[in-house]
Amino acid sequence: MKHQLIAAAAGLLLLAACAVRQTQISDPTPAVPVPTVPQTETTAPRENIPAETVISSGDDWKLTLVNASHALPEDWDAELTVLSNGKRVDSRIYPALQRMFDDARKAGLDPIVGEGYRTHAEQQQMLDDRIDSYLQEGRTQQEAEQLALEYVAVPGTSEHELGLAVDINSQSGNNEAVYVWLAQNAPAYGFILRYPENKETVTGIAYEPWHYRYVGDVAKKLTAEGLTLEEYLAQSP
Ligand code: DAL
Ligand code: ZN
Repeated sequence: MKHQLIAAAAGLLLLAACAVRQTQISDPTPAVPVPTVPQTETTAPRENIPAETVISSGDDWKLTLVNASHALPEDWDAELTVLSNGKRVDSRIYPALQRMFDDARKAGLDPIVGEGYRTHAEQQQMLDDRIDSYLQEGRTQQEAEQLALEYVAVPGTSEHELGLAVDINSQSGNNEAVYVWLAQNAPAYGFILRYPENKETVTGIAYEPWHYRYVGDVAKKLTAEGLTLEEYLAQSP
């Protein structure tokens, strides 16, 4: 697979069309809502993101790069599996997700998919809600938008719109134990911690210990080498 660096044109936030077909109902997680945004704030240095650079994902669907400078592919066609709590994921990642949850539960944990696939409208709502919450804290519009964008991607640029990303928390609220287990074990199931600490300038997103992205077999190598998906794709021949 060839990955090229090319100059990015304007219009990266063009809305991408996403055909969705839902075909299955399965059961990896019970229906309990969990929060997906943290209570603390950090200041990711978003201005350092090399937004003018586009990295080719090649032709492997598992490695499709979506971030602030890489919009959802226009022809993205997600077939979704609906989980027992109503959350949806791309059907192709469901078996690995189920195996990971089965093994986490065997280890005494209680993981739950707090967020899976989101439509463009749902992503917009999430961003709007986050901005509103900062405004209600007394932030200015500019501050509120900047803070919200540290954790919530602009609609059209979220991995949740791919259906290949899940936010995983603990049903009982013991999130830290779930995050530790995932950090150690998720790569064996093809999932990577997509927004690691100290990689904010590369990913454009603050540390999110709950957000896992399916990439398949390369998850182990990528994690072992401490690479983000952006860095892995940029390095791959
Ligand atoms: N929280 C991640 C960055 C998203 O909104 O896609
Ligand atoms: Zn997420």
